[in-house]
Amino acid sequence: MIQWSEEYRLGLADIDEQHKNLFAIANKAYDLLKNELRTDKYDQIMEILDELRDYTVTHFSQEEEYMASIGYPKLLSHKVQHSDFIEKISNVDLNSVDANQEKYLFDLLDFFADWLVNHILKTDRMYVGG
Ligand SMILES: [Fe+2]
Repeated sequence: MIQWSEEYRLGLADIDEQHKNLFAIANKAYDLLKNELRTDKYDQIMEILDELRDYTVTHFSQEEEYMASIGYPKLLSHKVQHSDFIEKISNVDLNSVDANQEKYLFDLLDFFADWLVNHILKTDRMYVGG
């Protein structure tokens, strides 16, 4: 279970809401990983990946718009982190995911949870100045 907490709040209502939604998507992946009744999780993994991709594309572009509007000097390197993330969840070998569903789900969650915490606590915090 990966939980949003006050320490992640940036003080920008829209962006904070979007970050909470990203935690919610991570929890869907967590619940799916923990679900021992379902043996074939491929379709659910694909749904989560699609949702994550769609949601981050929108969220990142709003963040980038905000950073541009305040003339944030590190916009470019922040954008690179965003596009690396999208690339990572887009370049997926579907056959290997299907063949190693549990491992893929575990690795995805590990990567995503770590990214969420580090990106929001460190990289995003920098554009709100603290
Ligand atoms: Fe960001």
